[in-house]
Amino acid sequence: MKYFLDSAKIDEIKYALENWNIEGVTSNPKHVKASGKSFSTILKEFAEEFKELNFPISVEINPHLQTADDMIEEAMKISSLSDNFVIKIPCTEQGLIATKKLTEEGIRINVTLVFTASQALQVGRIGASYCSPFIGWQEASGVDCFELLSNIIAIYENYDFDTEIIVAAVRNGKQIVEAAILGADIVTAGFQVYKDSFYHPFTDRGLKIFQDAWDDTELGSL
Ligand code: E4P
Repeated sequence: MKYFLDSAKIDEIKYALENWNIEGVTSNPKHVKASGKSFSTILKEFAEEFKELNFPISVEINPHLQTADDMIEEAMKISSLSDNFVIKIPCTEQGLIATKKLTEEGIRINVTLVFTASQALQVGRIGASYCSPFIGWQEASGVDCFELLSNIIAIYENYDFDTEIIVAAVRNGKQIVEAAILGADIVTAGFQVYKDSFYHPFTDRGLKIFQDAWDDTELGSL
């Protein structure tokens, strides 16, 4: 399963790329706001910093756009800035129409804000590059998304869709593991979520036990 970083912070992305083997980035207007930089600055940085790599970076269009035509126009503009850019389009009917047309033009689309298997089915039918079911938002309100993910994966397997599933808005290691158990293609999570998922206090406790034993042992010469 591929790990994407959900972020618009270049230092975080570089760190995760170098040290954690992340294979792509997803961003959204919240991340751009959190970066403290303008949207166009973020686009320039994304395009420049990773230009030597084959590294998909999802960038979201203006969320106020309502019609497929307006979404297509903006998606074309953003996509022309870097070969790495994947355009994030919301899973509305107009968004799906835009996705179908852009996909036919060879532009990679990540359909975002997917909450049901019926939405994901249409994303796969029109051949979008990525489908992003948002897990964390639903689980925060008490919905267990294991079944949702399992249904989407089963549907994609039934029909051999090429669309990759990005399990999005992932909040903890348990959700990462569930995505992996089900065989999702990709998870995207924030910097701290990955950091926490590598950590267990028993590892530190065990390390301390071993350090103490080491210190009480005659080492001899190696
Ligand atoms: C994924 O592509 C989204 O950017 C992301 O996961 C949205 O959720 P969040 O910003 O609430 O984590």
